[in-house]
Amino acid sequence: MKVAVLGSGGREHAIVWKLSQSQRIKELFCLPGNPGIKQLAKCVPLPLHDHQSLIHWAKKEAISLTVVGPEDPLSNGIVDSFLAAGLQIYGPNQKAAQLESSKTFAKQIMKIYGVPTAKSASFTELGPALRYVKENGAPIVIKADGLAAGKGVTVATSVVEAETSLRASLEKNRFGKAGSTVLIEEFLDGEEMTILSFVSGPDYLTMVPSQDHKPVFDGDQGPNTGGMGAYSPVPHLEKWLSEIEKMIVDPMVKGLQKENIYFQGILYTGLMITKEGPKVVEFNVRFGDPEAQVILPRLQNDLLEILEASTGGNLSSIKLKWKQDACVCVIMASGGYPVEYKTGFPISGLKPGVDDLVFHAGTEIFGTKLVTNGGRVLNVSSLGGSLAQARTQVYERLQSIHFENLHYRTDIASKAL
Ligand code: AMP
Ligand code: GLY
Repeated sequence: MKVAVLGSGGREHAIVWKLSQSQRIKELFCLPGNPGIKQLAKCVPLPLHDHQSLIHWAKKEAISLTVVGPEDPLSNGIVDSFLAAGLQIYGPNQKAAQLESSKTFAKQIMKIYGVPTAKSASFTELGPALRYVKENGAPIVIKADGLAAGKGVTVATSVVEAETSLRASLEKNRFGKAGSTVLIEEFLDGEEMTILSFVSGPDYLTMVPSQDHKPVFDGDQGPNTGGMGAYSPVPHLEKWLSEIEKMIVDPMVKGLQKENIYFQGILYTGLMITKEGPKVVEFNVRFGDPEAQVILPRLQNDLLEILEASTGGNLSSIKLKWKQDACVCVIMASGGYPVEYKTGFPISGLKPGVDDLVFHAGTEIFGTKLVTNGGRVLNVSSLGGSLAQARTQVYERLQSIHFENLHYRTDIASKAL
């Protein structure tokens, strides 16, 4: 088989790494990929927004299955375009992808099917939004309705901060169309956890849990990022798993069926475990980044078989098998990320071929050198017999990787330890 993965970050590197172990794949491609992915797959520099070029290429190469990594192509309807052209593709169609691309839409579905989540209201006008914030007080959460590359959420600790965020979205157009509707949400106090599920119509398989670390600094301080590290399993929150499946994943999968929304892909459930139990913070419609970088190393099954069973409507024939090992991933970021940072610094200390679980996120080749090319540069994962062991190994490995002005959190997985 020839298989193509769409995307260019650490998540896609992890997907390509896992697929590269499948005996049935003759040739693996990644569009556009990155220098790390290039060691495992042929990288093809095609833009993901140009569906017709992608389809033309996939037909010419006789690609049997295309796997979509990031949310943007999904919300732009890449799956609809491929299916209409008679090509197999893994991921939800545009209608189903609204679970991520419109927070208001996701809230509506949750409301209809009684899925526990924060109380919220949607606004398109500044006046009523400001009044709602004044009535409800802080802390309060302001969210751009649409996709904003992980930057659309403000957890406001004061009414003034909430107002500033509302004005940025509704008055100054900070997020363009994505922020022309805002969701104002009750602040949920607790600990976060991610549950990913493979979903195919009425069938679903829930993966082992993981926990992301969004704020940029140790102790969950500083602005939110796309994720500074993750680990799996999450032993201290495991007691909630059956309730999450029963109260959240199952009603969502059934609800989507009832709404005539065909969901085929990954359902990402972002949760807050509050004093009152688990509540949904957000849904995404693809693997988490960096959650994939700790989940896929633990997966024993051939990923291709799961994806094929899913597109073939045969997911219930699969039983997921997991390594007992724990996995910890630490993001090596450019100092200053997620606000302002410089790129183009040479990276040293990598051992291609030996560094199995060092995933590239923001790197490029400049001349003959590997240099930094983004906020999140490398995602260093390690598997170990326990979380403590995996964590020690990952921090040891980080010591010998260098680039100028690098930053990473030193407390990944410490909540579980
Ligand atoms: P989201 O993009 O909706 O996942 O939000 C990004 C991050 O903001 C989450 O991972 C949480 O850390 C935080 N957050 C979002 N919604 C809430 C909420 N209602 N209460 C507390 N924190 C939240
Ligand atoms: N880890 C957060 C996300 O993938 O959206």
